[in-house]
Amino acid sequence: MSKKITLSVIKADVGGYVGHSSVHPELLEKARSMLSGSPLLIDYHVTHVGDDINLILTHEAGCDNEEIHKLTWETFLACTDLAKRMKLYGAGQDLLSDAFSGNIKGMGPGVAEMEFEERKSEPVVIFMADKTEPGAWNFPSYKMFADPFNTAGLVIDPKMHNGFNFDVRDLVKHRKVVFSCPEDIYDMLVFIGAPGRFCIKSVYHRDTGEICSTSSTQRLNLMAGRYIGKDDPVMIVRTQSGFPALGEVLEPFANPHLVSGWMRGSHSGPLMPVGLDNNNPTRFDGPPRATALGFQLAEGKLQGPQDFFKDPSYDKARETANEIAQYLRRLGPFEPHRLHLDEMEYTSMPEVSEKLKSRFVDLL
Ligand code: 13P
Ligand code: 13P
Ligand code: MG
Ligand code: MG
Repeated sequence: MSKKITLSVIKADVGGYVGHSSVHPELLEKARSMLSGSPLLIDYHVTHVGDDINLILTHEAGCDNEEIHKLTWETFLACTDLAKRMKLYGAGQDLLSDAFSGNIKGMGPGVAEMEFEERKSEPVVIFMADKTEPGAWNFPSYKMFADPFNTAGLVIDPKMHNGFNFDVRDLVKHRKVVFSCPEDIYDMLVFIGAPGRFCIKSVYHRDTGEICSTSSTQRLNLMAGRYIGKDDPVMIVRTQSGFPALGEVLEPFANPHLVSGWMRGSHSGPLMPVGLDNNNPTRFDGPPRATALGFQLAEGKLQGPQDFFKDPSYDKARETANEIAQYLRRLGPFEPHRLHLDEMEYTSMPEVSEKLKSRFVDLL
């Protein structure tokens, strides 16, 4: 058996170019220069989706490793310094503190990490989204690991037929619950159908206990207690050989689902799958989008990426997403395009209510 590898994807928005649409190439170069030559890493890949920088790292230090987290924190700090000098938009947006406290979790950046023994062949997909929130992965994760209409292997592959365990987090009450699917599907859907509060953190193979997927689930606004944008999420998925095949993992994105985020983090919109060349949210700061990069690991080396959603077989999904976006935009400030009051990142309600206080009359 090979040694254990840790795959860490750590991301932050440290300044947008232009507005909230993208990351300036010099910031990506800065991030690469900070990671290059680090003795802690086996390999790294720096990329972005929209205005979020994504650091994809392999190493042998395990999850929640202080030195790895410190390296990424310092990388984001260096990028923030540059973003400030370049007067990029919202420089340092996702960094809640100036001082590193041992673990980057809870300090602003999003973290998805998993440690595993590299298999004979280890195909992985890194999903990254902008203008949405961690619960955006609930629907596609459910499809990948629990829906036989999406994942044929759940029916016809003996290595998958017993199903998967889902670790679901309650982001408001800081609790977790594990559902064993398929038996618990109906119970689980009660919770994960409310993605603003309940998020699928990780999925495990039921026979082997091996980790199959994990995502970032922090909610910055809950931690900070003020608006600082939605937590644009990332997710790592291992594929093939007892896990869903690559095409089964990508299939849920062929039908764009509605997610929360988009303009000012306060609107519902379709999650549009796009290639790297098209991941700069533009229309009404969106629509929200997802990129999927594939790597074949070899002793921790990241061979890739393959830019999956660039494929023309996702053209139809983009077209559908644009149609949904066109329809929703016509609703302007009306729900359900605008999010429900509880979910909005921005609201003028307190100020406007205060101003109109004297004009409200109690009805008898
Ligand atoms: P594996 O069982 O080797 O993952 O093969 C499944 C497959 O790739 C079918 O598309
Ligand atoms: P980000 O969360 O991607 O920074 O977007 C914030 C926003 O307000 C977009 O309109
Ligand atoms: Mg931003
Ligand atoms: Mg963003």
